[in-house]
Amino acid sequence: MSCVQATSKENPKVEALPSSLDANRMPAHIAVIMDGNGRWAQAKGLPRMMGHRAGVEALKRTLRLCSDWGIGSLTAYAFSTENWSRPGDEVNFLMTLFERVLQRELDSLEKEQVKIRFWGDLTALPKRLQSLIDEATDRTSNNKGIHFNVCTNYGGRRELVLAAQKLADRSLKGDLDPALIDENIFASELLTAGEVDPDLLIRTSGERRISNFLLWQLAYAEIHVTDVLWPDFDANALTQALVDFQSRSRRFGGLEPIAPAEQI
Ligand code: FPP
Repeated sequence: MSCVQATSKENPKVEALPSSLDANRMPAHIAVIMDGNGRWAQAKGLPRMMGHRAGVEALKRTLRLCSDWGIGSLTAYAFSTENWSRPGDEVNFLMTLFERVLQRELDSLEKEQVKIRFWGDLTALPKRLQSLIDEATDRTSNNKGIHFNVCTNYGGRRELVLAAQKLADRSLKGDLDPALIDENIFASELLTAGEVDPDLLIRTSGERRISNFLLWQLAYAEIHVTDVLWPDFDANALTQALVDFQSRSRRFGGLEPIAPAEQI
């Protein structure tokens, strides 16, 4: 994986940018709701868990493509605050899967300059997973490549409530005048502080919901919904999402389209 764009001839390991895409109009940040693992497995007569396993491969593939195509950040919705209501064996499987994947992939993530972060209430996760998350975050914190943000036990409303609590706390202590709270100060208390907002949200498997994902940060994101089930998401599906993104006229509430160079 490399953030440097190159032709596959120069370096066969790097996926070249498809000619249907304009390198100057790529999103800086893509967020993805990886939906359809269960249906993918069901359609093949496999247990749901196999869908999650295949989902990990699709996520690795997407991270590599985003990195190769010069996208600065990829944020994936791995586990929502609502996902605890799934059957216990599926929740346990997912937690163990996260652990195994982290254990298995950390060396190469570190080597490939990926900067990994986990957003959500991590204190509710199994202790072993928490220490792996700490280790992965630590070991990749100075990496200069793509930002890979994994939303784990994440809920957009909870994130907003926690930010409001922190601001109220600072105000009560006399550190912050409530009249001075603006969008920048509010955003600085979110889990995503310092990260550019997503330009593009991709949701797979045809569902047209935001599902409590990055409620603040997606304010001006373009939304691309595809019928492709997450485990089948590949270079072709990502290209289609990016072609769709590049066809949009982004006005950010104004009347004139924002010039491509200023859009991201
Ligand atoms: C949604 O499909 C998928 C999930 C809730 C889990 C996604 C997790 C991964 C792909 C693994 C990521 C791994 C790491 C280490 C970050 P679904 O089960 O809701 O599918 P369905 O809607 O067809 O039932």
